[in-house]
Amino acid sequence: MQRLSIEELEPGMLVGRTIVNSEGKPLLVKNTALTEHYISRLKTLGLTSIYVKNDLSDVEIPEVVSSTVRISVTKTLKNTFQNLPSKGQLDTRALKKSVSLLADDIMSNRDVLFGMYDVSTHSDILFFHSVNVCILAIMTGISLGYNELSLMELGVGALLHDIGMAFLKPDVFNKPGPLTPADSELVKKHPENGFNVLRAQGEIPLRSSHVAFQHHERWNGSGYPRGMRGNDILEYARIVAVADVFEALVSDRPYREGYAIDDVFTILRKLSDVYFDPYILDIFMSNIAPYPVGGMVKLNNGQVAVVLSTNKANPYRPQIAIVVDADGSLLCPALKIDLSQERHIQIVKILTGKEFKLFRLLLNNSVTEIRQNKPRTGWR
Ligand SMILES: [Fe+2]
Repeated sequence: MQRLSIEELEPGMLVGRTIVNSEGKPLLVKNTALTEHYISRLKTLGLTSIYVKNDLSDVEIPEVVSSTVRISVTKTLKNTFQNLPSKGQLDTRALKKSVSLLADDIMSNRDVLFGMYDVSTHSDILFFHSVNVCILAIMTGISLGYNELSLMELGVGALLHDIGMAFLKPDVFNKPGPLTPADSELVKKHPENGFNVLRAQGEIPLRSSHVAFQHHERWNGSGYPRGMRGNDILEYARIVAVADVFEALVSDRPYREGYAIDDVFTILRKLSDVYFDPYILDIFMSNIAPYPVGGMVKLNNGQVAVVLSTNKANPYRPQIAIVVDADGSLLCPALKIDLSQERHIQIVKILTGKEFKLFRLLLNNSVTEIRQNKPRTGWR
């Protein structure tokens, strides 16, 4: 499976992951063959990229949170944002229930790493983002040994960290391109606005409210609204700060495609001890799959492989299936190996969209050759 930008899609490619909107309605189901019509519809819906299958393997993607829970929580959050300006009240019971559903799923999938597979449409970015940030924060809290109460406080704060955005017009946070200075001023007020909203609700813990207030503070004091630094920033807010930036980098935005996971890791490492608490960042990153299952990778010996499964104890050494040899010929059947046992083989990079398309071309040509009874050049 490979994430491709909408511009790179071609008719005939198969959808690798069902695309749903925030209501849980499927927009395009897994295994659907793309047509020109579907591709232009995806553009109209505002999607920047989707996952397509790699033709050679149908790998089951492990999920930290089931799609049923993810959709239900996203719906609750969307209702919360939409009702807040008129009602001034949050349904705290439904929100706490959402956090506990997420935490239960995460606890029962503790050996699963987080992989970014869900894509959002423009109008839903804020809700998909907040749910992902909440999942990532809870995973980090569990790794830190948090008890149930702390996980709930952290989870509620993470899910509602951007609640102050509910008072902005949707076109401000969905704006394609940089904000005007006036919009920028409005956005910068969302931590304080969010804190005030949460403090006005009797049943939201004070420390959850402080997550909304402090999630843009930075380890070196360069954040806002107060310029707090180091351990003066609440630990929950230090966790959410990392999750917030990670999710924003890896996800598509109306004006740019999400960064590849290896680039995101490089960016985050550079920000360690600058924007982020280095200890929290290390714990956070230990929960993220550096090579997502179903993704295609290049090896140090020139071969190309599909990632079959990851091992949380050793995330950089997953099980893989080598599908293309170093000379560019296809390996049929693919050669399955466990990188934790083959220390001399290393993954050097995740395939780019362009490389993935070249690979498809190679595969299609080989299949055509066989159909025409031509010599099996390139096959073993
Ligand atoms: Fe924010």
